[in-house]
Amino acid sequence: MDKHPHLDDLQEMARLAGRILADGYEQQHTIAFKGETDLVTEIDRRSEDFLLAEISRRYPGHRVLAEESGGGDGGTHQWYIDPLDGTVNYAHGVPFFSVSIGYALAGQLTLGVVYDPLRDEMYAAGRGQGAWLNGRRLAVAAAAELNQALLVTGFPYNLRTSKRNNLREFAGMITLSRGVRRLGSAALDLCYIAAGRLDGYWEISLKPWDLAAGALIAAEAGARVTSLVGGENLLTEPYSVLAANPALHTRMLAELSRISATMEPD
Ligand code: IPD
Ligand code: CA
Ligand code: CA
Repeated sequence: MDKHPHLDDLQEMARLAGRILADGYEQQHTIAFKGETDLVTEIDRRSEDFLLAEISRRYPGHRVLAEESGGGDGGTHQWYIDPLDGTVNYAHGVPFFSVSIGYALAGQLTLGVVYDPLRDEMYAAGRGQGAWLNGRRLAVAAAAELNQALLVTGFPYNLRTSKRNNLREFAGMITLSRGVRRLGSAALDLCYIAAGRLDGYWEISLKPWDLAAGALIAAEAGARVTSLVGGENLLTEPYSVLAANPALHTRMLAELSRISATMEPD
């Protein structure tokens, strides 16, 4: 099947935005705070401004929801942009971050691209067409049991003040699995599931721009991707995610539900 005609466009935009990130990486950053640990650099904004301008030039009239400037959600042609996923890594000089561009047609995720500029790794997917890393077809790993699985998760920026901070789930899952990584870019976490480098990923309190592209890439590589209550539509609140091959997904969902059932509400 031919790839969707706009997929090359998304990859080109992601590559150019990735160049902005890579060029700015070694420089001193101006850091502003959106929350106590939630940072934004001038490079997030530069990358986002570039992507917004490109989308409005190439696709006039399409709606864009982007992390730093907001924008509308729910359009027939809807874009989800994270101009720099992994800002805390980026600001500290940790080489794990990405650009994420998702496109939904009539509410259905249709195209997704995540680009890691330092490794020159371009992940891409089209609905019903498959997922690729630099043109090579991706498939999830086969580990079906938790004790064979290397997992990844993340934590919300409000973890100091919210009881729903994923720490109990983390403690539970790390004792049942081969390990749980915290790598710091939700978009790349999902791509690592797609590539079979990691077996299972879960996280709470995300935003559509963290998830849109990576969720499609993981699903097109064979992952089951749902919210943490098993919901299929990741673009509606509360934006949690669980991605793994179908057998492991069932086991992870059971364990995570068991752990959170024992927790008090916030
Ligand atoms: C964050 C990263 C991180 C995840 C956070 C996200 P940002 O995005 O994806 O891995 O744990 O929840 O907010 O702020 O670096 O774009
Ligand atoms: Ca993000
Ligand atoms: Ca970001």
